[in-house]
Amino acid sequence: GDVFTYDPGFTSTASCSSTITYIDGDKGELLYRGYPIEQLADKSHHLEVCYLLLYGELPDAKQMLEFEALVTRHTMVHEQMQYFFRGFRRDAHPMATMVGVVGAMSAFYHDSTDTNDTYQREVAAIRMVAKLPTIAAMAYKYSIGQPFVYPKNTLDYAGNFLHMCFAVPAEDYVVDPILAKAMDRIMMLHADHEQNASTSTVRLAGSSGANPFACIAAGIACLWGPAHGGANQACLEMLREIGTVDRIPEFIERAKNKDDPFRLMGFGHRVYKNFDPRARVMKESADEVLGLLGIEDNETLKVAKELERIALEDPYFVEKKLYPNVDFYSGIILEAMGFPTSMFTPIFALSRTVGWISQWKEMISDPELKIGRPRQLYTGAPRRDYAEVEDR
Ligand code: CMC
Repeated sequence: GDVFTYDPGFTSTASCSSTITYIDGDKGELLYRGYPIEQLADKSHHLEVCYLLLYGELPDAKQMLEFEALVTRHTMVHEQMQYFFRGFRRDAHPMATMVGVVGAMSAFYHDSTDTNDTYQREVAAIRMVAKLPTIAAMAYKYSIGQPFVYPKNTLDYAGNFLHMCFAVPAEDYVVDPILAKAMDRIMMLHADHEQNASTSTVRLAGSSGANPFACIAAGIACLWGPAHGGANQACLEMLREIGTVDRIPEFIERAKNKDDPFRLMGFGHRVYKNFDPRARVMKESADEVLGLLGIEDNETLKVAKELERIALEDPYFVEKKLYPNVDFYSGIILEAMGFPTSMFTPIFALSRTVGWISQWKEMISDPELKIGRPRQLYTGAPRRDYAEVEDR
């Protein structure tokens, strides 16, 4: 028969070659197109990172202006799309709404569903980067029963997103620059992460020639799980459940107990066997944002820091090389901004969209593209004959 390698969870299989993102899990290093994440988080901004991921190089001033204008032109979604939102139960999780609405985009933007047309691929990419914040904000507004807020294109990318989430009619909402900066940084830190589960899902879906909106919807569906992007919501809910520092040891014991399915959310990573470099930046950012907002004695942040300290000294976590990941501190910042936990994963999704679409573009233009088709080890019944119902 056929010979192939059995590799459940793809722990040792490279599914593609890529020039986009590099991770050194032992060193705890993350590079986008060669640039260290720490430098980008400090000096760049999300739209510039989008340009870098999509096109491979940092833009010059003119290219940046053109790109910004292009993205801004596409921030609106088709007016008819609001009927899609209204079809959902009003208490629907925003991720459920997003999976549906992003998939539905293929029914609204027929032109850019043609995957053979390189120009339309570019348009699809821009549409996705431009519209995902609008869609996430609409999902949020719908879930709390408030009217949708149109994009405000005089604001920057992150500021516009905050405005669409928090502005209400008849009240002036001024975007706090501290929050916009923090939001932008969260977006950059989540922008790409090579062949994680959702990106691999996007590639697998795209390998059949499926349209890009459908592929991104598949990525969003995969991201939702608590082992992946759903961890940011699960992590903050866990920190709240722990509640006070004195209850930490109880939860550490539970995480170590193999008979208890509980895991420390925001801890551990398939690739990082050292600090997740994004977690370091996120921790600093949490301190900074809460400080600037004047909420230093935030109980959740206290619990998080103490939990991290205790876990990093515990032989179980040390031996298994379990360190805080990107989701450990992000929820604390998002909560301080006023987001409910149900919006944490949608924010991850809109931030990762540029990574997904960059990876999709890279794949689709690869002359050696093959449909993704894993094999299996069959362990079911051997060949047998059909039995009539009275003989079973
Ligand atoms: N708490 C307690 N034990 C853990 C944890 C944890 N968070 N993570 C891993 N372990 C243990 C696990 O039980 C296993 O022990 P043993 O070898 O004795 O069976 C060992 O560490 C290896 O874990 P694994 O599940 O085989 O590792 P994996 O690479 O398949 O899973 C992971 C990686 C991220 C799914 C896992 O660490 C996890 O479930 N973490 C919590 C959820 C989380 O924070 N996810 C966000 C990941 S970062 C953001 C993103 O990219 O989405």
